[in-house]
Amino acid sequence: RIGDLDFKVADLSLADFGRKEISLAEHEMPGMMALRREYSEVRPLAGARISGSLHMTVQTAVLIETLVDLGADVRWASCNIFSTQDHAAAAVVIGRNGTPENPTGVPVFAWKGETLPEYWWCTDRMLRWPNAADGSVQGPNMLLDDGGDATLLIHKGVQYEKAGVVPALSEEDADYTEEYSVILDLLRASLSDDPQYWTTTSPSIIGVTEETTTGVNRLYQLAAAGELLFPAINVNDSVTKSKFDNKYGIRHSLVDGINRAVDVLIGGKVALVAGYGDVGKGASESLQGQGARVIIAEADPICALQALMDGYEVATVESAVERADLIITTTGNKDIIGVDHMRRMKHQAILGNIGHFDNEIDMAGLARSGASRIEIKPQVDEWRFPDGHTVIVLSEGRLLNLGNATGHPSFVMSASFSNQVIAQIELFTKPDSWDKEVYRLPKSLDEKVARIHVEALGGELTQLTKDQAEYIGVDVEGPFKPEHYRY
Ligand code: NAI
Repeated sequence: RIGDLDFKVADLSLADFGRKEISLAEHEMPGMMALRREYSEVRPLAGARISGSLHMTVQTAVLIETLVDLGADVRWASCNIFSTQDHAAAAVVIGRNGTPENPTGVPVFAWKGETLPEYWWCTDRMLRWPNAADGSVQGPNMLLDDGGDATLLIHKGVQYEKAGVVPALSEEDADYTEEYSVILDLLRASLSDDPQYWTTTSPSIIGVTEETTTGVNRLYQLAAAGELLFPAINVNDSVTKSKFDNKYGIRHSLVDGINRAVDVLIGGKVALVAGYGDVGKGASESLQGQGARVIIAEADPICALQALMDGYEVATVESAVERADLIITTTGNKDIIGVDHMRRMKHQAILGNIGHFDNEIDMAGLARSGASRIEIKPQVDEWRFPDGHTVIVLSEGRLLNLGNATGHPSFVMSASFSNQVIAQIELFTKPDSWDKEVYRLPKSLDEKVARIHVEALGGELTQLTKDQAEYIGVDVEGPFKPEHYRY
């Protein structure tokens, strides 16, 4: 804490570098700049206390400062232990007008290379606000989440607080994972500190805006079970998010991550990509663009057929794993690559995941398998099996584009984060319009985000005549497609 600002980042002296990169990013994020121009006088987020859990990168710094310009108070944590860019975190804490002695920015709790207990501590701190002026306990009134960990912590907190007990968990339990046991430890400590914290603060939450496929899946599951505590906007399924960030963002940042990690020639190699959804499509194109021969593993016949039409071989992990030089998981599902697959991989096969969570690759099984770990450098490990062959694992199975590189570039994040900011404004300014369900933004706003980015790239849009618009049944100003259109 310095003055009124509590925070925890790696090194405040990195802030200058962070600020320079933030200023380059601002130019590449026309959506953020347009929203600042449109709303910084009206300040629609005045009174919002936004707790954000999203990779603390340079691009996220621009998002945070946009939310601040729109009137919000913000606290932040990263949504992954390896994804923070320490210079960006430092710059956000210091703020645009602050100094290391007198930081005036935003409380950030994030650094690259957190342990799991540190990660959940950061998430908890990001949710705990200074007391209100009258001394009462205060939580966030808005959440901005990526992957659903902040949402999960609140839901678990409320559930266990109501029950009056946090379950004991041992390694024999069916749902035991190291991470789950860390969450329970944190909740146990937090509830014994302040038994009423979660139930006093969670009712003040107007809603959450969720960034990614995996977080959105969790929200729909909570809503279907009738357990969602507040309304949610699914930002991921704005077309200008998932069809751009998940695809073109990955097309850029997958090879970036692989190159920074191992710098092997991708051309000519065999790459096995599990999953051909939006992320898998971007990942495959990225590898094919470097000249790799790409094989896709898919469960959904529609996506598998798309992969075939795009010119890829489609095979199972089982049948292709021995041929692959690179194996990348993109499914958002669990248990895709097991230890038996790793035993069968080529010597020095490169194994990485770019889906949200680290459960696509069985890292716990690998640690128990008898293979020994040689750290080549942070986030690059060579695992040697007793037969002598090795597998190179990137970012310990966590999303490698953010662990080994710097995630997606600014321009594509501008589109994603424009949807985030618009979703925050929609929820916060119309608090009575929502039930405890999951909503998507209207298509007109999606098209607005696209229009800003088309203009920034110098694209020239065709104007429909009134006659043409009537003929295809749309308005001259849009929306240009019915809801069921799939792009
Ligand atoms: P998606 O739902 O469009 O695609 C996932 C695909 O995997 C689906 O087509 C599904 O049929 C397939 N799949 C599921 N289980 C499978 C299995 N056992 N074997 C083979 N295929 C299987 O999801 P999307 O949007 O592509 O996202 C994938 C993951 O990436 C999510 O966890 C998401 O949160 C994450 N993500 C990561 C980003 C990053 O920067 N690293 C950016 C955006 C999303």
